[in-house]
Amino acid sequence: MVTTNSRTVAPCSRIVGELTVPGDKSVSHRAAMLAALATGESTLTGFLASEDCLNTLSAVEALGATVKRKGTDVTISGTGGVFSRPNAALDLGNSGTGMRLLVGLLAGQPFETELTGDASLCSRPMRRIQEPLEAMGACVELSGETGTAPMRVGSAPLHAISYPLPVASAQVKSCVLLAGLYAEGTTTVIEPRPTRDHTEQLLRAMGVPVTVDGLSVSLDGFGAAGPRLTAGSIDVPGDFSSAAFWIVAAACRPGSRVTIRNVGLNPRRTALLDVLKRMGAGLSITQTTDAAAGEPMGDVTVDGSPLHGTTVEGNEIPNLIDELPLVAVAGAMADGVTIIRGAEELRVKESDRIATTVAMLQAVGVQVEEAPDGMTVTGGPVTGNVAIDSHGDHRIAMCAAILGLVGEAPVEVVNTDCIATSYPSFWDDLERVSSGEEDNVNVVIAIDGPAASGKSTVARKVAAALDDALYVDSGAIYRGIAWAALERGVDVHDADAVARMLADLDVGFFSRDGAVGFGIDGVEPGMAIRTRAVNDSVSPVAVIPAVRVQVVKWLKGMAALGTLVMEGRDIGTAVFPGTPHKFYLDASAEERTRRRHREMATEDAVDEDEVGKSLRRRDKIDSSRKMDPLQVAPGATRIDSTAMAIDEVVESIVAAVKGMP
Ligand code: DC
Repeated sequence: MVTTNSRTVAPCSRIVGELTVPGDKSVSHRAAMLAALATGESTLTGFLASEDCLNTLSAVEALGATVKRKGTDVTISGTGGVFSRPNAALDLGNSGTGMRLLVGLLAGQPFETELTGDASLCSRPMRRIQEPLEAMGACVELSGETGTAPMRVGSAPLHAISYPLPVASAQVKSCVLLAGLYAEGTTTVIEPRPTRDHTEQLLRAMGVPVTVDGLSVSLDGFGAAGPRLTAGSIDVPGDFSSAAFWIVAAACRPGSRVTIRNVGLNPRRTALLDVLKRMGAGLSITQTTDAAAGEPMGDVTVDGSPLHGTTVEGNEIPNLIDELPLVAVAGAMADGVTIIRGAEELRVKESDRIATTVAMLQAVGVQVEEAPDGMTVTGGPVTGNVAIDSHGDHRIAMCAAILGLVGEAPVEVVNTDCIATSYPSFWDDLERVSSGEEDNVNVVIAIDGPAASGKSTVARKVAAALDDALYVDSGAIYRGIAWAALERGVDVHDADAVARMLADLDVGFFSRDGAVGFGIDGVEPGMAIRTRAVNDSVSPVAVIPAVRVQVVKWLKGMAALGTLVMEGRDIGTAVFPGTPHKFYLDASAEERTRRRHREMATEDAVDEDEVGKSLRRRDKIDSSRKMDPLQVAPGATRIDSTAMAIDEVVESIVAAVKGMP
């Protein structure tokens, strides 16, 4: 049965590509809440615009903060210490993080707030936060039948406590610490095992000292007046738990290679990487932020290889709690036995994740034994041709999709709407790493490089020198979209508006005179995409994720047309990372300025200085954007054409291509 709420995923022999995953969910929730309390305006970049986090934004708005959002950029003006009373109950939807953390802050407000959520959230345990909050003097009333939401909280003075956490839960720890901001004295939480420390990191970044001594975490309260949090800019890293789906998919498929850029590398989140290393995965990790600058971020590349089983238990568990269903998937694809223990916490996630993971693996023919606190998975063939119900649990839905991708037969994932709670672009990313790389695609020659490096002249001549090859100018497509936006009066800096326009455009491709051309709503823009206005608008347009996802999809699809010589910025890294023919064409900035000036001289009387400035501006945007930045692809041949004639460059590329199988 095909419904919009189900999706069939077919096996893919090699998982290949580069991705930037959406922002970290834990950091997004916390950043929204704390920015809402800070004094002044904070800017959040890379915010996760998922249902869960948008519910948190609406909640803080109802509590008096001013929120402005443009895609993943959010500006929040805080209320400066305490919130104001909301007019109605706050609905946190599906999010345990949203509810448990906010309740901590609301416990300290001088008014009572009512909170509720969807059926799944209203079945999750809340006594674990009620207990410590009541010990601090808070009023917390649970009106759900079994110690669950809906709930009322607030309007009682708080005092500090020292609280040994009965379960290792970052949400409960954060809830108590956040309530502690409104208490007199020092609040201490003692953890049984280390858990995520995003709350501590963010509080420190916003000027509240948090001390950690072994397993105890303490902060000094500010009393009923609330904390003095410093507003500022918060860069939300890519969500490691979202990246984990592709890391595991590629790790267990030999021949695969996936790179995830700008992903959060907080060690309290990345224990999966240690587990995969033990299982034999090929991983390389480069931290790109400096160690002292808050949440660490970097790039993770994974190369698929045969995996073997391992045991995951003890202190490792809290640091990969969300990834355990994926560990089970890796175990199913590995040789030998993978044992997960000490993970009873999984039973009270969005679903009973031990039961749902076991059922999911059994459905695809894997031998699994359920334990009260985990499972034992015996690796073996992962068969498919089944439907797997997510039971409304986003991580189970995405894991089932990964099983379809890496297994031996398609899997129909039923109940997929929940994926939007944490990873709205999941299906686009799945397509990105699994399409266009099927065996036997036509030859693709990828030529990347900065503006005015000579790529288009070279690529056109290389295509002419190779019989029947088609030249593709990928930049022209980004230019076409920028042109269409200018024509329609769409603000090129408004990502949502450009994405909406793009969804409505009718773009068609055709081959003519040895090149691939295109029309937009029946019009071929021709030289209209080479104006100064388009020059200035194209880089901002090319930064928009929805634009990149769509254009990459179109470009991959062109492989069906024949041998391609495609030039651009990300052809060797994101569009055809699997092609053996990758070239990176460069020239000195002065030489590129001269070339571009020569090209433009007849069109506009601009001086060379201006041309140089505009080129450098574009280079900067193109190489610093988060998604598919301009960079030398792994394995690409670098050609510096500063002192070379065009024909020399062409000959060297043609010779290299012909010399290769
Ligand atoms: O190659 P060009 O100067 O016509 O490209 C125009 C812009 O499009 C460039 O500033 C960056 C963007 N672009 C891109 O992001 N990815 C590509 N593959 C090609 C171009």
